[in-house]
Amino acid sequence: MRIILPALLLLAAPLSAAAPVPSPILTTPDARDALSYARPEVARVTHVDLDLRADFAAKVMRGSATLDIAAKPGASEIILDDKGLVIERITDAGGRALTWAVGKADDYKGAPLTIRIGAARRIVIAYHSKPDASALGWLPPELTAGKKKPFLFSQGQSIENRSWIPTQDSPGIRQSWSARITVPADLVAVMSGTRLTPRGEPAGKSWKRYRFRMEHPVPPYLIALAVGDLAFKPLGARTGVYAEPVTLAPAARELDDTEKMVRAAEGLYGPYRWGRYDMLVLPPSFPYGGMENPTLTFLTPTIFTGDKANTDVVAHELAHSWSGNLVTNATWSDSWLNEGFTTYFENRIDEIVYGKERAAVLADLSWDDLQRDLKEAKPPATRLHGEPEELYGELAYNKGAIFLRTIEHAVGRSRWDAYLRSYFDRHAFQPQTTANFLKDIRARLVKGDAALEKQLQLDAWAYQPGLPGNAYRVRSATLAQVDRAIEQVSEGAPVGTLPFSTWGTQEWQRFLNGLPRKLSTERLAELDGAMRLSASPNAYVRSAWLVLALGNRYQPAVVSAEEYLPRIGRMLLIRPVYRTLVEQGAWGRPIAERIYAGARPHYHPVTVASVDKIVGFTP
Ligand code: BES
Ligand code: ZN
Repeated sequence: MRIILPALLLLAAPLSAAAPVPSPILTTPDARDALSYARPEVARVTHVDLDLRADFAAKVMRGSATLDIAAKPGASEIILDDKGLVIERITDAGGRALTWAVGKADDYKGAPLTIRIGAARRIVIAYHSKPDASALGWLPPELTAGKKKPFLFSQGQSIENRSWIPTQDSPGIRQSWSARITVPADLVAVMSGTRLTPRGEPAGKSWKRYRFRMEHPVPPYLIALAVGDLAFKPLGARTGVYAEPVTLAPAARELDDTEKMVRAAEGLYGPYRWGRYDMLVLPPSFPYGGMENPTLTFLTPTIFTGDKANTDVVAHELAHSWSGNLVTNATWSDSWLNEGFTTYFENRIDEIVYGKERAAVLADLSWDDLQRDLKEAKPPATRLHGEPEELYGELAYNKGAIFLRTIEHAVGRSRWDAYLRSYFDRHAFQPQTTANFLKDIRARLVKGDAALEKQLQLDAWAYQPGLPGNAYRVRSATLAQVDRAIEQVSEGAPVGTLPFSTWGTQEWQRFLNGLPRKLSTERLAELDGAMRLSASPNAYVRSAWLVLALGNRYQPAVVSAEEYLPRIGRMLLIRPVYRTLVEQGAWGRPIAERIYAGARPHYHPVTVASVDKIVGFTP
């Protein structure tokens, strides 16, 4: 033993000093990312190191990005994605200037940034973002919960990070990263990696610097930053929540099942591989329900309704730690591999933590959502796999989840769970395509069983529009009672006799979305009076009510919309309201335009881009 040990160490030393092996990329045609200019098979970024200062007055991030590059022998240029970055200079690691050029820009994708790297395999880009960078929400104090200090947050998915980070912004090109972020000394910076300096380090008179590191290679859309007046409260050994001081306690109360959720998820599909699982509560203008930034899920405050009714969003973002962050859609054509798998997995976590009936309620509602989406979207858009611009976004969630649930019921839970667990293990930290998933499931689960192959209809699910005939539907007893209440309303029963006093978000959603679309002003007034819908503090209830009421040109709901719409930025909860108003033509369109004119400055660039289209706003 004494003799062998030094020999082993000698052998180990040069190995650990060598450059890390870059994580694999896929080179098949179906893995080619049409939304990125990168040519990773020639030269690719393996590590991003950011050194940036947040300038709230100018609304810019300013500093440098140092990129490590792996390239084919002899490769002399690298192509990055650039959406409106202002580049000052690019050098090699020794400070020698490199030549570079920005190509023609596309509104959505941005432009290729081509750099002549020669033999350099590390380059330094000095740059700053523009004030209108699409990934960055710069909020004035009025738009925060505390109303005293400004707030900044980034949202990378799908292709927005190229507006503040010069790199290859493609989900199939995994990169580790590190960052030094300098912010005004009274604010706290957090990022989606290990937070190395929780309190920050002094950096000049009125600044503090925070350092971060992500050791695992991640798709670059998962690099995320937030800066604000933030406090932290632990929830469990490896879980906790960041929020503005005024929202911290109520948020922590509603999130106190998080540790249980992590354990449930691990019991299903293997170890949580990211260290901590913390959450960050954003101001209400956050455009999404949640965003699965590794080690730090971003959450909308609209989920906090006081009754834990919406913690399925946490289960969802947590589940992405496997489906999305560990095994990642190679391109945005495969986004159902992220969202559909996650919507399925989320429901399994809900079942363990809250029981079968609650999981059934959520699955039953997602069936409704899918039916609505199938009605709204034209057939080619209802496929799971396709060009991202052609697909109906939300559909991938529920159609994907129902696809996996259908497989589960065909093969049995234990066989399916064993397969899925091994799927995550075998593809950890790798990109995945629809075709590869089908190949994998055929090799490992179907294994040539012709009857099973026929029963599953895998290709129809993955590539055809609509819903295959074998779709497995879950029904909940709780929502069946709500359906009874809907019938009673249709039959003219007085609203006061309905059993709504115990309803939570999901019962309200089923009820409001299930009522006949045409209701008289008297009936709407009766509902509103008894159920206080126009004044509901629950954003899910408010959204569903406004769609119903405004769809009937119910005038008293207009003030409710005026109060609600500028205050909430979560697209899922405001887009349907704007859409409803616009559909009401001469009555509703001017209302939508008027409210939007006032609300637009309160929204994130992503929400602005989306609502501009609905309202037909041209800046
Ligand atoms: N990853 C998504 C958010 C996203 C999707 C950002 C597409 C950009 C483009 C996140 O995990 C998500 O799905 N959020 C949902 C909530 C979920 C519970 C359905 C949302 O935002 O509503
Ligand atoms: Zn998701």
